[in-house]
Amino acid sequence: MKILVLGSGGREHSIILKLSQSDKVDKIYAIPGNTGISSLAETKNISLTDHKSIIEFVKENIIDLTIVGPENPLTNGIVNDFNNENLLIFGPSKEAAELEASKAFSKGLMNRYGIPTADYKTFNDYDEAKDYLTGQKHPLVVKASGLAAGKGAIVCHRLEDSLKAIKEIMIDRCFKDAGNEVVIEEFMTGEEASIFAISDGNYYKILAPAQDHKAVFDGDKGPNTGGMGSYSPAPMINSDMLSEIERKIIEPTFAAMKNEGRTYKGVLFVGLMITEEGPKVIEYNCRFGDPETQAILPLLDADLFELTMESAKGKFTKNEILPMKDLHSLCLVLTSGGYPNKYFTGYEITGLDKVDAETQIIHAGTKKVEDRILSNGGRVLNVVCLAKSLKDAKDKAYSEADKINFKDKYCRSDIGNKGIKYYEK
Ligand code: AMP
Ligand code: GLY
Repeated sequence: MKILVLGSGGREHSIILKLSQSDKVDKIYAIPGNTGISSLAETKNISLTDHKSIIEFVKENIIDLTIVGPENPLTNGIVNDFNNENLLIFGPSKEAAELEASKAFSKGLMNRYGIPTADYKTFNDYDEAKDYLTGQKHPLVVKASGLAAGKGAIVCHRLEDSLKAIKEIMIDRCFKDAGNEVVIEEFMTGEEASIFAISDGNYYKILAPAQDHKAVFDGDKGPNTGGMGSYSPAPMINSDMLSEIERKIIEPTFAAMKNEGRTYKGVLFVGLMITEEGPKVIEYNCRFGDPETQAILPLLDADLFELTMESAKGKFTKNEILPMKDLHSLCLVLTSGGYPNKYFTGYEITGLDKVDAETQIIHAGTKKVEDRILSNGGRVLNVVCLAKSLKDAKDKAYSEADKINFKDKYCRSDIGNKGIKYYEK
């Protein structure tokens, strides 16, 4: 079988690495791909907004299945465009991807179907939002309803912060049209986790839960990034909690989408807060998470090609929790110092040849110039290690990361600690 993967990050490299382990996969293509991906797949530079040229490429190369990594092609309707041409693609339609593209839609859906989430109100009018905020208990969270590259949620501890947030979003339009509508919601306390379920439109299959580290500095301090590291499984999600999440959130979400005429196929990513009142949805995404995918896929004891193909064709026969290896996985992200603010790139990366064979080195922002590999982004590389315990996976990932060097290299020193503490309780 010939597979095409769309995207260029660590998530896509990890997906391609897993696909390359399937004996049913003969050839992998990637648009646009990255330096790491190019050793496993044939890469082609086409803009992900150019659906017509992507479809031509799929037809020319007789590609059997296309897998979409990032959210933008999904929310722009690439699945609808493929379906119109009778081409197989893994991912939700534009209508189903609305779960990520519009927080106003997803909050409304949860409200209508009794799916637990933070209480909220939506606003299109700045003055109404301002009046509402005055007198509200803080902290609370102000969110741009549309896609804002992971930056659209602002936790506000005081009234002056929330007033500043709505001004920036609604008047200064810092997230452009994504901020046309604003969601103001209750602040939830608890532990965060990410859970992924693949649906074929009728049934779903759940992957191991993971935890992500969004803030740039140790102790979850500093601004949020795309993700500084992840690990799986997530210890606070034991089998009872997983059943509760399935019953209260996963199953009703897919059922609600079907009922609304927006049947969901592809992977659904649910960002959760495990509160004292039980699990609640922070947000939905219509794609795999980055860097959660890098930690989860090496644990998956199933063929990712078969899962994605069966999802695209609607061939699942039951709901299930997918088999995972009895191991712990940790993904450590190496960044260019200064990220997510100003940073410099173009520095040679050395030591990649010293890393152990079983360690996965996933590329996110690198560039090959002749035979040298250079840093070329905020998030540069991911080091993924598996071990019998989370502590061992962490120690191994950090010792492997020590072998890799480039100017301004930075990583958090505490990835995994929250989970390790849990095991030591
Ligand atoms: P989002 O873009 O909605 O995933 O939010 C980004 C981050 O903001 C989440 O990972 C949480 O850390 C935080 N956050 C969002 N909504 C809430 C909430 N209602 N209560 C507490 N924290 C939140
Ligand atoms: N790790 C969070 C995300 O992929 O949005």
